[in-house]
Amino acid sequence: MTPQRTLVLLKPDAVKRGLRGEIIRRIEAKGYTISALGQRTATDEELSAHYAEHEGKPFYPGLVEYMGAAPLVALVLEGEGVIAGFRSLAGATNPTEAAPGTIRGDLAREWDLPVIQNLVHGSDSEESAAREIGIWFPELD
Ligand code: TYD
Ligand code: MG
Repeated sequence: MTPQRTLVLLKPDAVKRGLRGEIIRRIEAKGYTISALGQRTATDEELSAHYAEHEGKPFYPGLVEYMGAAPLVALVLEGEGVIAGFRSLAGATNPTEAAPGTIRGDLAREWDLPVIQNLVHGSDSEESAAREIGIWFPELD
């Protein structure tokens, strides 16, 4: 039994489409605890730190531009196995491949803008979670 923390973003498409409540409902229904939550427009510094692993990839410039163009919501979730658990709730990165029952499979509209607009981010490892929580909620460190 190892409680974990993970960093989740409700991306600008989730905010614009009015899906914050629906996504948070799924998180809470699963039983995860929301220990921090805030909405703001991300800065270039936050986004380049957050997506450092993707710098240089073809989709990186468009990703950072899209993520910084409108408000997003950052959350810290806590719970048993929450890192893999939230990614399981989110579904595959590409909404076209995301299974029904997942946030991306049920709600993301891949035809709006392929792959980028997949509604949510979730940390992919304990190391990523610690690093990303430090970026978005430095006061929690
Ligand atoms: P990645 O970390 O691979 O996916 P995940 O969000 O599932 O951890 O990629 C980060 C984001 O970059 C992804 O959510 C959407 C965007 N992206 C693209 O726009 N095109 C791509 O080909 C990939 C792989 C990602
Ligand atoms: Mg990722």
